[in-house]
Amino acid sequence: MKIHVTDQAGAEHELEGLDGWRVMEVIRDWGLNIKAECGGAAACATCHVYVDQQWLDKLADPSDDEEDLLYSTLDKKPNSRLSCQILLSDALDGLKVTLAPSAA
Ligand code: FES
Repeated sequence: MKIHVTDQAGAEHELEGLDGWRVMEVIRDWGLNIKAECGGAAACATCHVYVDQQWLDKLADPSDDEEDLLYSTLDKKPNSRLSCQILLSDALDGLKVTLAPSAA
């Protein structure tokens, strides 16, 4: 399945990922500019992405930990999510996200 990622410079990338992978892992493994310092433990917020509006309601609600971390992120927007907390599935094939400045 594919995801579409716009990087911090505005370039668009179509990335291939597998069912069950974290979106953060796909972005990181394809070499885009994402720190993901905690490795996916919802503890760093350096995997911050903005989710395209049309995909927002297809995602599971954020956990309290995710909400808390995003709350303390300066470039947070209403469509902010932690990409390590989004698991790929058929329902998310074609997902569009933009890397937040704070992910770099
Ligand atoms: Fe640290 Fe997502 S990788 S919160």
